[in-house]
Amino acid sequence: MLLPKRRKLQNPHILVAYFSRSGNTRRLAEVICRQTGGRLFEIQPQNSYPASYEKTVVQAREEIQKGFLPALLKQAEGFDQYKTVFIGSPNWWGTLAPPVASFLAGRAAAGKILVPFCTHGGSGGEEIGGEIARLCPQARVLSAFEAYGPRVKTGAVKKQLGKWLRRIGMVR
Ligand SMILES: Cc1cc2nc3c(=O)[nH]c(=O)nc-3n(C[C@H](O)[C@H](O)[C@H](O)COP(=O)(O)O)c2cc1C
Repeated sequence: MLLPKRRKLQNPHILVAYFSRSGNTRRLAEVICRQTGGRLFEIQPQNSYPASYEKTVVQAREEIQKGFLPALLKQAEGFDQYKTVFIGSPNWWGTLAPPVASFLAGRAAAGKILVPFCTHGGSGGEEIGGEIARLCPQARVLSAFEAYGPRVKTGAVKKQLGKWLRRIGMVR
């Protein structure tokens, strides 16, 4: 007997945009998509970062110090149609990874709700929301969800994420 396919939850007003070098932030983005029905969009720089962690750390520091905004591989189609945009970034040197800043810089985000989420290596992600608000002053920026990178696969983080989504009114 054929079982009916489980209907995939979809919400045409939610975009979940993220950048991830080593997969932690991607994992959060995927869970957010599953829970909210939003569309997933990966922010990718045209020139990927070096495979070496150390080289990436050095390059990222330089880019952040200079305020360099790397060119992106593609833009999110129909950005204007989304009312709510989740913005995911790893904490890089205490701030947004440069491709995420590129994604936001110069965007007309008036009337949008931007929802930051972040993974980090121990120093949290509080500054991320402030940086998003600085880049998109006309948007409403909600409080961020942050998780320690090595713990994103745990059930505890998934549970916290679900609680946060309910608290900010994104899922019932
Ligand atoms: C260039 C670079 C800079 C980083 N800077 C910080 C930092 O300042 N504070 C911190 O807690 N973690 C820092 N990390 C660790 C990452 O935030 C952490 O591993 C994150 O979960 C990686 O996410 P991803 O797997 O989505 O790329 C840094 C990592 C890289 C590659």
